[in-house]
Amino acid sequence: MRTIAVIGAGQMGTGIAQTVAAHGMQVMLSDIDLATANGGKAKIETSVTKLVGRGKIEADQAEALLSRITPVGDYAPMEAADLIIEAATEREEIKNTIFERAGKVLGPDAIMASNTSSIPITRMANHSPDPERFIGLHFFNPVPVMGLIEVIPGLATASQTTDRVTGFAEGLGKQVVLSQDEPGFVVNRILLPMINEAVFVLGQSTAGIEDIDKGCRLGLNHPMGPLQLADFVGLDTCLDIIKVLYKTTRDSKYRPAPLLVKYVEAGWLGRKSGRGFYDYSGDAPVPTR
Ligand code: CAA
Repeated sequence: MRTIAVIGAGQMGTGIAQTVAAHGMQVMLSDIDLATANGGKAKIETSVTKLVGRGKIEADQAEALLSRITPVGDYAPMEAADLIIEAATEREEIKNTIFERAGKVLGPDAIMASNTSSIPITRMANHSPDPERFIGLHFFNPVPVMGLIEVIPGLATASQTTDRVTGFAEGLGKQVVLSQDEPGFVVNRILLPMINEAVFVLGQSTAGIEDIDKGCRLGLNHPMGPLQLADFVGLDTCLDIIKVLYKTTRDSKYRPAPLLVKYVEAGWLGRKSGRGFYDYSGDAPVPTR
């Protein structure tokens, strides 16, 4: 694959664009408008500049990487893409609208993929022009660093599509886990109940934020505690995923923790809003409870 389109220039979309461009492919990056797509490229520039500063990559490599990323204001240029990856907000109606609109320009051999964290692929495939060429391609945050991509074929996905997308993922230096199209796939089905339970533990005052995170860091050897990780992923995204698990399975074990709902209602979404379980306004994060 030579040209990849990424729809959504947020945390995941920019991480995907950076990684793809770092592996020599051309990237079109889009969002609701050109200004937002340009903003996404600016975030990638900041991230890549840090890598140069830390001696991880050379300045000319960074320049070449950035030159391969073109922000676009509409979907028309994506007719040249071999693969369109949707990485928009985790809301099914938003994603479906993207598949319908971008589907109009999808090339005859091109593949359309969703970076959804939990929404059924088989269901969304019906909004794309060809369910045989539609698949789930789930990246992990921070995309340039994390070694895993989940590949999720829907019921109608052709095996050739799965093979091509697996080859693409491996070409990015990632390892692939193939998952059936079940709610939360493999990793989020395990991760989100853990994060949600950590919020119940906090809500019941069993321990404070720092001790819950410390417990999991030191007791389980996780690089981040569950509340720190929730802030990192985004509390709105965590809530969206646990809601999908709850709605699709109707199993009460996935009911969202009331405190998680409250934080999202307050606009305390984690790192991206400057406050979640931690306050990020100073030099170092400070627990808020
Ligand atoms: N581009 C390229 N490299 C980057 C980077 C970027 N944007 N950001 C960081 N790195 C590199 C650094 O250069 C550094 O490389 P070296 O080890 O070679 O020096 C390495 O990544 C680690 O970075 P830092 O030293 O800055 O930070 P750290 O050691 O504290 O690690 C972390 C940060 C990798 C995020 C670590 O805390 C971690 O692994 N946390 C858990 C992350 C996780 O669980 N992610 C999954 C979330 S769930 C998800 O994404 C799925 C979903 O659907 C919700």
